[in-house]
Amino acid sequence: MDTKVISSGVRYSRLPESYVRPESERPRLSEVLDCENVPVIDLGCEDRPSLVRQIGDACEKYGFFQVTNHGVGLEAVGRMMEVAVEFFEMPVEEKLKLYSDDPAKTMRLSTSFNVNKEKVHNWRDYLRLHCYPLEKYVPEWPSNPPQFKEIARTYCMEVRELGFRLQELMSESLGLEKDHIKNVLGEQGQHMAVNFYPPCPQPELTYGLPGHTDPNALTILLQDLQVSGLQVLKDNKWVAVKPHPNAFVINIGDQLQALSNGRYKSVWHRATVNAEKPRMSVASFLCPSDDAIISPPKSLTENGTGAIYRDYTYPEYYKKFWSRNLDEEHCLELFKN
Ligand code: OGA
Ligand code: NI
Repeated sequence: MDTKVISSGVRYSRLPESYVRPESERPRLSEVLDCENVPVIDLGCEDRPSLVRQIGDACEKYGFFQVTNHGVGLEAVGRMMEVAVEFFEMPVEEKLKLYSDDPAKTMRLSTSFNVNKEKVHNWRDYLRLHCYPLEKYVPEWPSNPPQFKEIARTYCMEVRELGFRLQELMSESLGLEKDHIKNVLGEQGQHMAVNFYPPCPQPELTYGLPGHTDPNALTILLQDLQVSGLQVLKDNKWVAVKPHPNAFVINIGDQLQALSNGRYKSVWHRATVNAEKPRMSVASFLCPSDDAIISPPKSLTENGTGAIYRDYTYPEYYKKFWSRNLDEEHCLELFKN
């Protein structure tokens, strides 16, 4: 069966040609290290100065970390994962009603990354939703499975609170007022990508998502506890991020790299696929409001380097991001002073 998505229920026996990466771009899975030292930060820690220090260290040295005791209810998390699985288990005809490859759509099921621009496709289907304000966007969300809207709505609200808490800790760790990041980013947008990576017949030849940095401010990723696949570039080597029970993976996006004047890094990461098991992840993205000016505070530009990036707005950035291939140079390079 020839459909636009790969979650059609049909198992492929070999990888279609359009997914095969040239030799030099392949994931070389046997060389990936199991990262022993991804920081896992307990947000329940009552010693705030210590917590702020741990967050600052993780943001500076890794750009990514996991958090436990994060305040998002275990039930909300469990139900979100369940309904995500149910969504992708629906018949392909039902899913295809939501299909679009237009990145400007605020609700769509799509595949790969940017099918109209890219040369090689990625072994991923995804449901992408705008989530803030909820009253505006929930009505256009999928009405199947029937409980999807309610579950995703609760999940989005709780994750948003976690995002704000992290932004406060990050502000403090940069020596700023705790509301600084929130104030600069304005009324933040929120998007969700429900990623589904079906079993792939030849995982050595392709990606779920190739190396990329996230264009938004902060990403909160719920990853499958049973099936790993997320990898992060650390000291020029790809390392696997082992799923930690009841944890979220947090990563700095391009906007926080710009806002921190390069102190915190929006790291390269990728998702690889495997031959046996399907993998799910749910990524929540917090994004600057459209009218926010992304600009670092004076205290971070006074050390002689000045501002690394010119001031810009997120719509300007986002347009540039989607006009490129995912794995090209860091999009922020195009905004350097
Ligand atoms: C993303 C992403 C990683 C994953 O959606 O931007 O990096 O493990 N996802 O699915
Ligand atoms: Ni990402």
